[in-house]
Amino acid sequence: MTRDEIISDVKRLEPWFHCIDLGDGLFTKTRSTIGEPVEHPRPTWDVVKAALPNDLSGKTVLDVGCNAGFYSIKAKERGAARVLGIDAQRELIRQAAFVRNVKGLEIDYQRMSVYDLDPHELGQFDVTMALGLIYHCKHLVLALEKLFLVTRELLILETAIYPPEKAPESFVYAEGGTLPTLHPIAYVENLPDAKEAVFNWFLPGIAALTALLKNVGFDEVRVLPGVQNDRAVFACHKRVAFPDSRSVSYLGSKLSLVSGPTHCRPGEVMRFQVRAENTGYARWLRGSEQGTERGDVHLVAHLLGEDEEPLSLYHAGAFLPRDIAPGETIEIEISLRAPDPPGNYQLAFDMVSEHLAWFEDLGAVIAKQQLVVE
Ligand SMILES: C[S@@+](CC[C@H](N)C(=O)[O-])C[C@H]1O[C@@H](n2cnc3c(N)ncnc32)[C@H](O)[C@@H]1O
Repeated sequence: MTRDEIISDVKRLEPWFHCIDLGDGLFTKTRSTIGEPVEHPRPTWDVVKAALPNDLSGKTVLDVGCNAGFYSIKAKERGAARVLGIDAQRELIRQAAFVRNVKGLEIDYQRMSVYDLDPHELGQFDVTMALGLIYHCKHLVLALEKLFLVTRELLILETAIYPPEKAPESFVYAEGGTLPTLHPIAYVENLPDAKEAVFNWFLPGIAALTALLKNVGFDEVRVLPGVQNDRAVFACHKRVAFPDSRSVSYLGSKLSLVSGPTHCRPGEVMRFQVRAENTGYARWLRGSEQGTERGDVHLVAHLLGEDEEPLSLYHAGAFLPRDIAPGETIEIEISLRAPDPPGNYQLAFDMVSEHLAWFEDLGAVIAKQQLVVE
């Protein structure tokens, strides 16, 4: 690309939020666009960089809300093996791709929302950056869950926060007997036509965001020193890539019946083969035959009447062959005894995370079978 072509494309792709050095004395912008410092986001990078490993060789990095790619470029310059930047706004992805091409860097960009991040499709990234993102998210907890799931080791989150000098103190709420702690989160009142990716929605206090990040699953959440201008940086670490079935948030399954009888004699013991796909993001724990622990996952058959009225819940259960990873599919055999009275029945096969939840109650797809006792 010639110098003149670069100048003309920079103009065509305006307005710019990121000031990026394109070489040869050229920058993406030389003036503030919406009140940000002209050199934005360099001053923020000076704080954020302390949380990012100096050497990212061999690491994969995801930059969510990448804008024109300033931070994606920084990750690449630290040696990351793969960098993917995503942003909800198409014109910002055009800017990022242009800068990448001018600088001759190997970075992938894709228009995608934080809500669409799915490790079953995209895999996980060693490091995720979510900088200046979450206050644009109307669905704050969902966004944090998605960031958690797509991250393998470390999430660096930078955000505007509930101004500390204005925020009320956290306190223990004594009503109802469970004594939860309440942390302040500010809701920003917008006009009804406010656009999600552009307007601000929630400004969490530091204690609220720390608690939220721990609740979505991060093992360690550290606030970097130097909260400036009501903004803060969080370094959030994970010990394992996926949580296990003791965490109710990430359970999901899809069951289908592979084989099994539709007619039987009273009291007959029958065998059914059920295919179970772990469509959630938690590893299913098999547990032990010695005793049931909270979070052990079993296949269960319920016996229902013709009208779907439950006659015998947990009529039979079966163990998994082993622990099952997210995305894996297995077949499980389950034996059960037919009821004695002749008639028309239904069997409903579901998974259970013991002492926690029926998967059907979490929106999972169960399998059903008509059964005629002759
Ligand atoms: C304040 S800018 C921050 C850009 C950059 N990360 C930085 O810190 O300079 C917020 C960015 O998040 C993007 N964004 C907002 N909502 C998003 C969403 N739901 N999914 C992905 N990106 C989003 C915006 O398009 C914008 O580029």
